[in-house]
Amino acid sequence: MIDGKKVLFSGMQATGTLTLGNYLGALKNWVTLSEEYECFYSVVDLHSITVRQDPAELRKRARRLLTLYIAAGLDKKKNCIYYQSHVSGHAELSWILNCFTYMGELNRMTQFKDKSSKHADNINAGLFTYPVLMAADILLYQADVVPVGKDQLQHLEITRDIAGRFNAIYGDVFTIPEPYIGKTGAKIMSLQDPTKKMSKSDENPNDSILLMDDKDTIIRKFKRAVTDSEAKVCYRDEQPGIKNLIDIYSTCTGKTPAETEAEFDGKGYGDFKLAVGEAVASVLTPIQEEVARLEKDKAYIDSIIKENADKANYYATKTLRKVQKKVGFPERVR
Ligand code: TRP
Repeated sequence: MIDGKKVLFSGMQATGTLTLGNYLGALKNWVTLSEEYECFYSVVDLHSITVRQDPAELRKRARRLLTLYIAAGLDKKKNCIYYQSHVSGHAELSWILNCFTYMGELNRMTQFKDKSSKHADNINAGLFTYPVLMAADILLYQADVVPVGKDQLQHLEITRDIAGRFNAIYGDVFTIPEPYIGKTGAKIMSLQDPTKKMSKSDENPNDSILLMDDKDTIIRKFKRAVTDSEAKVCYRDEQPGIKNLIDIYSTCTGKTPAETEAEFDGKGYGDFKLAVGEAVASVLTPIQEEVARLEKDKAYIDSIIKENADKANYYATKTLRKVQKKVGFPERVR
């Protein structure tokens, strides 16, 4: 708890280009959640180097992502928006937690298996212990809730196991975090293969809407979206393409899927796809304009980076000192 509020932690990697899926599935909910929780939203750059990165590019993308957090509506006073690499406690706690994590547990992580097959030439130890760093992120702030996608649930589970194990030895040191899975728009699918999640790493540019796509591009991509031959705007599993478009439209307009069905009753896919494109553009355009405006105000963004890194460091150090004491490290002499 911080000031009587429950604590929430989440983070995103600055690799790849953010998509509409990241916005509707995560960022948009983050803004709502910040009303209720004391939130820490990190740009998790330590995680990014588990895969080889171009340094200049990583720096640029990390700054862009942090700016986007703010442009999407996260109030910088209510939320702690910061770079993971600016808080050394993440790496320090991660080391300690490594000593409370079993090889066998990490071996079972499906993301490690996926990533090591994708990057067979660079299966580094960081890729293997990635979930431990993620546990450190969460536990460092004594987070009560963690909004994550389904793909990250296994990592949250191991975080709870590590925290429970540590607490069983040393007493109540860590808050055991709960996953928070959003009700709507949790999962936006690829426009070309609606059985697959829309992803930052999609290869076909028509698969995903990028957060920075302009209106014409957005409309063109929706025109090409895969649907079916039923020609009815119906929300059912048998029509995954249309179902996905209904989800997107509903989330952007605040309507329910049933209201969307009713609105397009008797209309063809052409009309519907155009309406989806327009709804998405009207959500993304203001965010893009805000990013452009903020990017010109370097001093403002820099001040947020500095203030929030200090705030994050304050809370992180509190937990870290407690943990260091518990495991038997000598006290610091002032
Ligand atoms: N691994 C997460 C992802 O790729 C990002 C992440 C890192 C994260 N640390 C976290 C998410 C802590 C939630 C909480 O999506």
